[in-house]
Amino acid sequence: MNSKGDKLLVAAIDFGTTYSGYAYVFKHEDFSRMKINNLWNGGSLMSLKCPTCVLFDENKQFHSFGYEAEDKYSELANDDKHEKWYYFRRFKMLLHKKGADIDSGSLTIALEPEAASLICQLLPSDIMFSGSGRLTANKYMILDLGGGTADITVHEKQADGSLRELHEPTGGAWDGTKVDEAFHQMLIKIVGAKTFKTFCDTQKFDHLDLLRELEMKKRTITHVSDNKIVVNMPFSLTSLYQQECGETIADAINETPFKDKIIWAAGKVRIEANVFKGLFKECTDGVTRCVRELLQEPEVKDVDTFFMVGGFSESPMMQAAIRDALPNAKIIIPADVGLVVLKGAVVFGREPMKIASRIAKYTYGISISPPFDSTLHPQEKRVVVGGKERCKDVFKKYIQKGESIKIGERRSGKHVSLKADQKKMLLRIYASAEKDPKFITDPGCEYMGRLIVKLPEAQDIFKVKVDMMFETEFLVDAEEETSKQKITSYFDFL
Ligand SMILES: Nc1ncnc2c1ncn2[C@@H]1O[C@H](COP(=O)(O)OP(=O)(O)OP(=O)(O)O)[C@@H](O)[C@H]1O
Ligand SMILES: [Mg+2]
Repeated sequence: MNSKGDKLLVAAIDFGTTYSGYAYVFKHEDFSRMKINNLWNGGSLMSLKCPTCVLFDENKQFHSFGYEAEDKYSELANDDKHEKWYYFRRFKMLLHKKGADIDSGSLTIALEPEAASLICQLLPSDIMFSGSGRLTANKYMILDLGGGTADITVHEKQADGSLRELHEPTGGAWDGTKVDEAFHQMLIKIVGAKTFKTFCDTQKFDHLDLLRELEMKKRTITHVSDNKIVVNMPFSLTSLYQQECGETIADAINETPFKDKIIWAAGKVRIEANVFKGLFKECTDGVTRCVRELLQEPEVKDVDTFFMVGGFSESPMMQAAIRDALPNAKIIIPADVGLVVLKGAVVFGREPMKIASRIAKYTYGISISPPFDSTLHPQEKRVVVGGKERCKDVFKKYIQKGESIKIGERRSGKHVSLKADQKKMLLRIYASAEKDPKFITDPGCEYMGRLIVKLPEAQDIFKVKVDMMFETEFLVDAEEETSKQKITSYFDFL
């Protein structure tokens, strides 16, 4: 049988919230020979990843991806021919619900921080660090600042070279798009939400142009910049405002706190450096607060090496904030930070067993209906099944949030059929953000999926043994004890 290990080539696809890319290496090649997709071209923006956007035509047929999709859609919008086309951005989270159409025998889901961590285990010549040296510490924190989230993980390198997670992954929405959002909010404070929405809905070409312009300015600002930031503004926004409000935008600014700080004239807006830097504040504050909190944890407090990855780590503003918050720490920022996860996923595809243990990010369990006990169970959960009183929706815990679990280590339990003539057993798997959920209906519980175990044709009560474990993905095994019929299901909800 052709297993994953027999393949000639390992390719990784990094589906980012904002940017995506692919890379590959042949089995016989050294990782330094890894090929990253060709340079994508977005007008004045060149990058090794491309925007995560896709375009379908009037017949719902695929047309293009990335910059090509952006360009075509804005051309259509410019000619007012875009109405019947389908343009999607930021759809990464929807892929969780539906597979990427790749045969599961060939597909492995890699976790982004683990992929990043593997890259820093490679030799300096392979990873092209920007002069800051190779990672030597055994314990380190990875700050993955992307376009969808900021993910923070702490890893320890084991004697055999494998990785152990020291703290459950944490983080928040302090990503690059928060800056875009803050910029939009600033414009809304000036022109009003209604005008800005009309502009976005009707002037798609200009809006896209403005987003690209912002992307460039966002990349150039540093914490020491004191010159005004100049952003080219579409004429359509200025004239729309004048039409709708009967005054110029320059007049409007005078009535806002941006008076004298933002000058809007001749198709350009000149923004005081401090105002533009302020757009990063939510992110710099959020990430540094989270890192400081993590450093209070006993397992983490002696960590002094920090690894910044993800495209947003390239921002001099973010780098300066981390350096300020951790003045005595060793901060490693690899070259091409936005590609670290992508390259690491290729390494992971070839050597997946390098992860030794994970800290469970959630509590995992199965919904059960034990005999009803009025001293323990609320009345509204009482049901009668097969003539017996039972309590529905009870969360049977298999793995507790915060526990360290070795890869392949099984957490087992038994489930008994509720009635004598039961044909199948339905095992509904849940994850909870709480350590000790009592019911699957408690806040923080999320349904992950189900396993259906067929029960043999006999008038008896059957037992099903369930195992939960982490491999490369989260895995649940269920085995009916008489027939030994076994079902395995994988979940990418880690
Ligand atoms: N040089 C830079 N300066 C400032 N921001 C940058 C720079 N390069 C990229 N970014 C920002 O980083 C974000 C993209 O980072 P990345 O490609 O790692 O995210 P992603 O993979 O799309 O998101 P995620 O992994 O969170 O789903 C965007 O918001 C982008 O504007
Ligand atoms: Mg990413």
